[in-house]
Amino acid sequence: MNRLTDTFKLNNGYEIPCVGFGTWQAPDGEVCTNSVIKAIECGYRHIDTAAVYGNEKSVGNAIKNCGVKREELFITSKVWNSERGYETTLAAFEKTMSDLSLDYLDLYLIHWPASAYRFKNWEEINLGTWKAMTELYDSGRIKAIGVSNFLPHHMEALMKTEVRPMVNQIEYHPGQLQEKTVEYCVNNKVTVEAWSPLGTGRMLTNEKLGAIAGRYNVSTAQLCIRFCLQNGILPLPKSVTPSRIEENARVFDFEISKEDMAQINAMEYFAGSGLDPDTEDF
Ligand code: A2P
Repeated sequence: MNRLTDTFKLNNGYEIPCVGFGTWQAPDGEVCTNSVIKAIECGYRHIDTAAVYGNEKSVGNAIKNCGVKREELFITSKVWNSERGYETTLAAFEKTMSDLSLDYLDLYLIHWPASAYRFKNWEEINLGTWKAMTELYDSGRIKAIGVSNFLPHHMEALMKTEVRPMVNQIEYHPGQLQEKTVEYCVNNKVTVEAWSPLGTGRMLTNEKLGAIAGRYNVSTAQLCIRFCLQNGILPLPKSVTPSRIEENARVFDFEISKEDMAQINAMEYFAGSGLDPDTEDF
């Protein structure tokens, strides 16, 4: 990958720009709209949002006013947990499309799996959501579909359906590499995206990462983003600060050595979100 517009090819052949711009916790309104416009000015072409972020209208405004053609952008959104199931997912999708003011979506994800912890019929619920997503995909209104925060046992049933997930978006950063899930995805040709590639900022004060970043004259944020790419994972860094948005886009003029990759890959868990898809009750 040499630039923001280079792509990973999904298992249905659709191409996805290799770094996405995250919008989780970007406050609705001008702050969010301006950050997305700034990101597009800096060369990002892939924007990641979700219904639950509460900022789809602001992202939609940015898309409308950014001066870049819709076809050149890759837009992702996600169906929230309260909307799981067939009918509710279809309705949630319409609301997302109306809020984003779009007539097609590039990627739509199930935000979190229904799990055995909360639901006896968790698998049936996930399959109901997936049926709706599959229909929308077949109709051409979504170019690719996938999941987020799914562990291998949540993915199993979906893998046996007619349309298999193309993406799994998981928490991924130094100290939290979710090896089993990544391995399962790689074996099944599911592209892995990293949410919180900077650990929602928590990676940035780590001394070890700081020392490695210093060797390349880059920031710890740039190191973490590049680290994802060199592991074949698609990072989704978020920022609402113009200088950081620009900084996070500059990850193609250095390469982390094999030795340093090995050191980062070996880091113990130190600062994740602590969220576990199997036991969350939201
Ligand atoms: P802000 O949005 O105020 O600029 P993640 O992508 O892992 O979710 O991390 C996002 C967090 O990291 C946000 O708090 C964001 O702050 C901060 N952040 C993003 N990029 C940088 C950077 N280059 N330097 C320092 N902090 C950053």
